[in-house]
Amino acid sequence: MRQKLVAGNWKMNGSLGLVNAFCDRFQNANFNSDVLIIPPFLYVPELVANKSESLRVGVQNLSSHKSGAYTGEISLSMAEEFQVDYALYGHSERREYFGETDDLVSDKIKLAVTDSKIKPILCVGETLSERESDNAFVVVERQVKAIFDKLTSGELTNIVIAYEPVWAIGTGLTATPAQAQEMHAFIRQQVATYDENAADTIKLLYGGSVNAGNAETLFKQKDIDGALVGGASLKVEEFFEICKLAG
Ligand code: PGA
Repeated sequence: MRQKLVAGNWKMNGSLGLVNAFCDRFQNANFNSDVLIIPPFLYVPELVANKSESLRVGVQNLSSHKSGAYTGEISLSMAEEFQVDYALYGHSERREYFGETDDLVSDKIKLAVTDSKIKPILCVGETLSERESDNAFVVVERQVKAIFDKLTSGELTNIVIAYEPVWAIGTGLTATPAQAQEMHAFIRQQVATYDENAADTIKLLYGGSVNAGNAETLFKQKDIDGALVGGASLKVEEFFEICKLAG
């Protein structure tokens, strides 16, 4: 049984007040699933200082370099100093607005698994035109396989993959549970071609307009091990509810 993981990606939203509202609400919460908050970098110290033990902390991006003259970047070792447990890599907004390629994303993940204890969450997913032209599986396969070229099978067991169809992000459109399950099964099968054991243990999250109303049916799908939640993760009560639904 893979334990569920519910991750809240705040993107460039939030405030110190919101960090504290989350810390208060989740103080004595007891979930069977792992709960992860991924705020903008500047809010990480406040979150770490005030959160309950059980709440995990993530960041939305990290550098592909260890240190040096890379203005505006944040390194793995800096994030580790602040007890960051997870990092998102290759979110579709990073790919679309900041030119992140499969190659860069897999280099970053390679550095994370070899140089830190931070768990990478690789984000993959097709655009609407890619789905409409029947290329969804081709695109996701390419994005997933890009990391196989760089990681050993042992390293693959340390990552989480989030399937987020770009057309469902922030749009209110969610993949149907059947569409999501179909892609998750496909991703697990891709992982199995590389490493059978990793395929059994790797967590696959669904993302794209997840909310308290649709989370339960998504969580019931065989290959969905949790959610990467954007908009609804900014609402304390709704996010709390989604975490409860995960078990
Ligand atoms: P959304 O975002 O839940 O607002 O669609 C998900 C994400 O981008 O991680």
